[in-house]
Amino acid sequence: MRVSRRTFLNGVAATSAAALTQKGEANAMTTNDGQDTRPIPTPAPRIAHFERMGYGMFIHWGLYSQMGRGEWAMNMHHIPAERYLELMKTFTAKDFSGRKIAKLAKKAGMKYITLTSRHHEGFSLYDTRGLSEHDVMHTPANRDLIQDFTEGCRAEGIMPMLYHTTLDWTEPRFEKDFPAYLQYLRDSVEILCTHYGKLGGLWFDGNWSKPNADWQEDKLYATIRKHQPEAMIINNTGIGEEGKLGNPEIDSVTFERGRPKPLNRHGHPKYVSAEMCHTMNFHWGIANNDFNYLSPAHVIEELCFARRAGANLLMNVGPTATGKIPEYEAAAFGRVGDWIRLHGGEKGVLYQGNPTQISGEGDDFALELNGDLYLFITDLTPTSNTMAHMSGHKGAGARKFAGVEKAYKEATWMDSGESLKMEFDGNAKQLTLHATNYPYGTNTVVRVARLKG
Ligand code: GLC
Repeated sequence: MRVSRRTFLNGVAATSAAALTQKGEANAMTTNDGQDTRPIPTPAPRIAHFERMGYGMFIHWGLYSQMGRGEWAMNMHHIPAERYLELMKTFTAKDFSGRKIAKLAKKAGMKYITLTSRHHEGFSLYDTRGLSEHDVMHTPANRDLIQDFTEGCRAEGIMPMLYHTTLDWTEPRFEKDFPAYLQYLRDSVEILCTHYGKLGGLWFDGNWSKPNADWQEDKLYATIRKHQPEAMIINNTGIGEEGKLGNPEIDSVTFERGRPKPLNRHGHPKYVSAEMCHTMNFHWGIANNDFNYLSPAHVIEELCFARRAGANLLMNVGPTATGKIPEYEAAAFGRVGDWIRLHGGEKGVLYQGNPTQISGEGDDFALELNGDLYLFITDLTPTSNTMAHMSGHKGAGARKFAGVEKAYKEATWMDSGESLKMEFDGNAKQLTLHATNYPYGTNTVVRVARLKG
């Protein structure tokens, strides 16, 4: 099964480069050595802050979670709206605790959580204050779960963010009276922006359902800027259009299950960040018979490869019918958190490190932080039981990095402190690191060497 997933991911990655369509790339001004000389805009504080958060938890939870067949179950299995909405009668949310989830996220090294306040099914996890009957106040749960969530996050120092669908399968105005529907959408978002304290951002999804419609995005985003000027505005472009920029108010491009490539920000009017979202199996909402899980090793790789491009990773889990994070995902997230702690933890290179011009071979790459260089060495596992892919297996030995401008003092593995041999050729701007094998008893999937500046 893993092979098919790899193929799938690689297929997506192949389209993502072509889809990097930030305007202005075509007429780049370059020097002789191919460098784009146009200035890079300074990120707004909210965008700079978002980039430094680096890693977040995505949560898809709604009525569909009771069926355990993914968040698209209503649509994919052609369930009529009326029958589907019967699920409201049994929605108890009895195990949902924003605080518990935030604690888990914190332990896992995640700095923010993006929860579905409403997904395509049209059911809201918050009190819509009369806007819709399809909300949590009309279920046995009868409590505002977005309030529970935002308060729980803040108590643990986690930034709450909200996913909000723009398409709606159960609100008749979506098909019958689109302008009225858009007003309903804006009113719904306004409630979120005015009753739950400071939000890290709003993450929209669904404009791809009516690609030619006038979504009146300016009005929607103006509502957010008015009440939550510090909130990130994100709008998922969907799986086929990764990295594409939309409305100028958008603060971050998205990569749904892709491999982010660094954005060319030279000459752009605004600095935008990037975020890749991925899920622990093949569905976003819980799917009881989907066994095709990512391993912690795979998540570590996804996190590293996102950070290589300066992108955030938003890793999804679908809670159970009653709102609990399933055990496997909780444990897997925890293990990735352990890996992060071995590699600088909270304030370390995973969050604060900057992409550089330095390039490694295959999947190897470098990040820079406070004058030190961090070399991320992949495919070191000496057996065929490896998460190694595209680049093939490399094992221990010389790893070359090009574009290195200066000599570094000493190199050590972050996980063990072992010092490593290296050579630097100033003329060729090439650095060679002699990567040693994992000592018996360890395997960190991606191994990081720290080079003192
Ligand atoms: C897709 C799906 C949706 C999911 C989202 C996450 O757009 O429609 O179910 O919420 O991806 O990125």
